Amino acid sequence: MIEIPHIIAHRGASIEAPENTIAAFRVAGARQAKWIECDVTLSADDKCVLIHDDTLERTTNGTGLIHKQPLSALRELDAGAWFSDIYKGERIPTLSDTLETLFFMDMGANLEIKPSGCDPVRLCQEVAKELGRAKKIPILLSSFDDIAVAEIRRLLPDMPCGWLLETLPDDWRKEYATLGASAIHIDHKALDRDMAAEIVAANVPLVCYTINAPDRAHELFGWGVTSVITDDPARMIAAIPHHPNPKGHKV
Ligand code: G3P
Ligand code: MG
Repeated sequence: MIEIPHIIAHRGASIEAPENTIAAFRVAGARQAKWIECDVTLSADDKCVLIHDDTLERTTNGTGLIHKQPLSALRELDAGAWFSDIYKGERIPTLSDTLETLFFMDMGANLEIKPSGCDPVRLCQEVAKELGRAKKIPILLSSFDDIAVAEIRRLLPDMPCGWLLETLPDDWRKEYATLGASAIHIDHKALDRDMAAEIVAANVPLVCYTINAPDRAHELFGWGVTSVITDDPARMIAAIPHHPNPKGHKV
């Protein structure tokens, strides 16, 4: 079992540094975040890379679809200058670089499997290979893609995998059990006190994204939420250094 920290840095400390870069993960660690959340997808040559969008325009100086370009081309791109000059030269990280960095920082990760147009099964296979090769750190996988969640359960039955949702389906218990997921990760805007109570009463760890206001995080923790994913770990950890109800949030 692994302990899920009450605060997870969304795409790294993405309010202070360019999202899904090693710089953002290092800043998250410097702000005392124990875990980062990051998004993994595949290059054209099936290498695991970290980036949120399907396309390169928003967070790099490249253009077009990520899964149409080989790793060598993706690694040439600047993934930091769009955010600020001080991050000029930051690269799109590989999953393997990220896991190595987190290991040396004594950090863990919520690794979101994001097919972004690539084959979800292939992506899971490559992620499983990378995780098998890497030094061991606490990892909670997750995905919006049901095929990916099911494939991860098959390939890595001992590794926890959260079911990522924008809204909670009425029959969530049945789908959750069918998928064999280990936690529910949901947009906090779609959650109310009653839904949270149902999930918590079923002993399902509940992770919410993306919360930057400490007052809202306090409210969610009061509802029994396990963990909040935030762009601003410095602010959140300063306001809420410990889970107000540390009952042992494990997966
Ligand atoms: O994993 C939580 C959150 O990151 C899901 O949404 O779009 O930020 O990947 P997104
Ligand atoms: Mg994500």
